[in-house]
Amino acid sequence: MSKVNVVLGSFFGDEGKGKIIDYLSTNADVSIRCSGGNNAGHTIKVNGEKFAFHLIPSGILSPNTKALIGNGVVVDPKVLIEEINSLEQHGYSTKNLFISNKAHVIMPYHIELDKLLEENRGSAKIGTTARGIGPAYCDKYERSGIRMEDFITSNFRELALRNIENKNKIFKSFNYPTLDANKIIEEYEEYAKILAPYVKDTINIIHKSLDNNETILCEGAQATLLDIDFGTYPYVTSSNPTIGGVCTGTGIGAKDIGEVYGVLKAYSSKVGEGPFLTEQDNEIGNTIRELGHEYGTTTKRPRRCGWLDLVALKYACRINGLTGLAINHVDTIGKLDKIQLCVAYNHKGKISMDFSTNPTYISNCTPVYEEFDGNFGDLSNIKTKEDLPENAKKYLERIEEIVQVPIKFIGTGSDRNDMIIC
Ligand code: IMP
Repeated sequence: MSKVNVVLGSFFGDEGKGKIIDYLSTNADVSIRCSGGNNAGHTIKVNGEKFAFHLIPSGILSPNTKALIGNGVVVDPKVLIEEINSLEQHGYSTKNLFISNKAHVIMPYHIELDKLLEENRGSAKIGTTARGIGPAYCDKYERSGIRMEDFITSNFRELALRNIENKNKIFKSFNYPTLDANKIIEEYEEYAKILAPYVKDTINIIHKSLDNNETILCEGAQATLLDIDFGTYPYVTSSNPTIGGVCTGTGIGAKDIGEVYGVLKAYSSKVGEGPFLTEQDNEIGNTIRELGHEYGTTTKRPRRCGWLDLVALKYACRINGLTGLAINHVDTIGKLDKIQLCVAYNHKGKISMDFSTNPTYISNCTPVYEEFDGNFGDLSNIKTKEDLPENAKKYLERIEEIVQVPIKFIGTGSDRNDMIIC
């Protein structure tokens, strides 16, 4: 029986999962997105051309790979249609794209609610991507959400009407502009016609692929510290981008999971609010941001930057059962003279690897750093770990030694070929 390989984000997202996913999906029969929505953004460079995927699994770029949007994903139909059109304009077929009939639809009232709720949080704002993700998951769990299987049938009108009427009551109570139900329904019925041929029971497709011993890849979105349960709540997204979300968002059982790769950068970055212990809100952080082009794919926001935190990484290894690490931007960090690596936390004088997302605990911790020499030089033509410069090897070996998970991929540049496979 084949096993499902999984790629997950280890920190706050934007670790460069797209590149590893792109490499692994080239050989996959099936690639699946399992959670989140168009709050995610994977950028892949193919032959110098840049592709930003928000919803469609990047496996779609391989002509024989089935690309599945799993039941755990929340789908903005407008964004998905734009992505389909853009792929086709670039000469890529979407005949192998399948959307789960159980995936939920993001409607305009979700987007408006996301903005309204965020505005009302005042100084306690989360910094959401304003794509309606949280409100769409709220409706899913409140059981008023619209699944793809209803979206593409005559059930849609009644469900949408009821929801828009209810949401308009909320908008009115906040003196926020209400929505025109008929206009929205007419517009979305057109989207439903376009998407209907793609809607399938993806759970069956996956189970058949497993029976046929096919290679399956799960493309994680967001990351461990953005997980609704395991992340830095409330500064998190509304789904489980950790290993559990792979099972609930696809219909794959735990025993079918094989390799679980955790993607990270040789430094850390974060968008939005919330604790970030190794943040460098100073010249060093600014330098890392510019060297690593750390601006959001989805929102274009400048990312907060800092040193790599191995205490948090060890936590991600445990939560997800990581079997291998993929570390990106080794070339970027190597442009600095000196690099700091957080190897423990000092909590009120006690030094340990104890991680907690509890805000009081974090606010009482200071990072314990080890210093490494940078100046790695040009890594662009290096194809084996052994050929890396000594300074780079020392840094990477220390990471493996502390978290006890082997590094399987080393990112040495932005192109899909700039990668050492260990
Ligand atoms: P939401 O997912 O739009 O509700 O946003 C909640 C938090 O998760 C915000 O801090 C976002 O910036 C963050 N977030 C959501 N998706 C991503 C992602 O793909 N990468 C990085 N941060 C994300």
